[in-house]
Amino acid sequence: MNIPATGLERKQNILHPATSIIELERSGARKVKQAHGIYIQDGEGNQVIDGIAGLWCSNLGHGRKEIAYTMAQAAQELDYFHTFNGHTNQAQEILAERLIAMAPKGLSQVFFGCSGSDANDTLVKIAWQYQITRGKPQKRKIISRWQAYHGTSISTASLTGLKGFHKAFALPLDFVIHTDCPFYYANAQHEESELQYTERLLSNLRALIEKEGAENIAAFIGEPIMGAGGVVTPPEGYWQGVQKICRENDILLIADEVVSGFGRIGENFASDFYGIQPDMMTTAKGITAGTFPMSAAFIADHIYEVLTLASKELGGFSHGYTYSGHPIGAAVANTVLDVMQQECITENAAKTGSYLHASLNQALASHPHVGEIRGQGLLAAVQLMECANSKQFLDPTKKLAAKVSQACYERGLIIRPLPSVNSLALSPPLILNRNQVDRIVEIVVQGINSVFIE
Ligand SMILES: Cc1ncc(COP(=O)(O)O)c(C=O)c1O
Repeated sequence: MNIPATGLERKQNILHPATSIIELERSGARKVKQAHGIYIQDGEGNQVIDGIAGLWCSNLGHGRKEIAYTMAQAAQELDYFHTFNGHTNQAQEILAERLIAMAPKGLSQVFFGCSGSDANDTLVKIAWQYQITRGKPQKRKIISRWQAYHGTSISTASLTGLKGFHKAFALPLDFVIHTDCPFYYANAQHEESELQYTERLLSNLRALIEKEGAENIAAFIGEPIMGAGGVVTPPEGYWQGVQKICRENDILLIADEVVSGFGRIGENFASDFYGIQPDMMTTAKGITAGTFPMSAAFIADHIYEVLTLASKELGGFSHGYTYSGHPIGAAVANTVLDVMQQECITENAAKTGSYLHASLNQALASHPHVGEIRGQGLLAAVQLMECANSKQFLDPTKKLAAKVSQACYERGLIIRPLPSVNSLALSPPLILNRNQVDRIVEIVVQGINSVFIE
């Protein structure tokens, strides 16, 4: 092969997710040594606030004794046995009942996996099996949105609407069609109201369905509130409109609640908050507060009915993972739900989240380089701008969000840069208190000023 050598001295033997290999070879990886409560300690002994809850997941804070105890107990009682061919364990049975009781109305069955990606992949396959069994095998396309993040497996990287996850792999696969990202601040036309903007997006969606043919479309997938693509909150009337169009066209609606589920936005699930009644829903991350790789994919009763029909013909539901319904993971998830109830975690996310948004707005709403503060509950983004007044967006090649994030780190806060939209994301543990919010906001302001003004 004629590939020129980079000439870089090799120090790394791990391929890190979503990381520049060259930059990592130059600068080395940042070691995380310990974590307690809302703090992590790095390899150099710095204690920093984990403002992103690991990766939108350490919802109960780090180092919870209840979880460590549960893991040890569960491992001694039943370390592992598979759940294929009708095997079960008590922890997953209890968990399934609790999850269905708290899930949005109509969702009646759950499938356990290990990651957000596999949960979304599972639901794509279920959407296909559902359509095939109903005698509509040509209904295969899935509508997703630009800026969406649904994972990085072959199918879910295709659903993801961030081009950085496509280019190197010649994705997306052709079963995916992308429609508009509902990002009002960035994409609304001059003097277009939120409702007018929503109407424009909905009419684009109708046009897309007409072009592709509803008879070829199996499902629409969306994060009720977008995460990695910019913490984009839906404009007024958006989800009601999308849901109506899906129903009219016999298209299943899948809510990806991998980030937004389990209290993150101050409600159990964002679908309830935004009035969405999904046919299917994925969750992961918060289900074990990030401490065990686990996902739960939910389906509505009418889909289960059809899968039951398919089972008559095909025998098994031919899908599953070695670690589906893992007894340790399920026990951990049960403990997470216990702690959430005992400590009113979701209520805290709602209250402290409102305080976080009010504080960010007070500190930054009139900042010359901040366009808007978005989000809900303990999920927030700060939109960085070249000039907020004239609504001039930043040149992404300047990588200023990453620079602000580094400046915040040096001041004691981890915050996540979202380079595709020049924003900073915050998704702290849901145990956060007001004093900690004050400290976070103080550091964010200092970080922004140190890059833009000083
Ligand atoms: C909304 C959403 N869906 C799916 C995923 C994929 O989850 P995982 O990385 O566990 O595969 C993520 C990951 O961040 C996500 O944010």
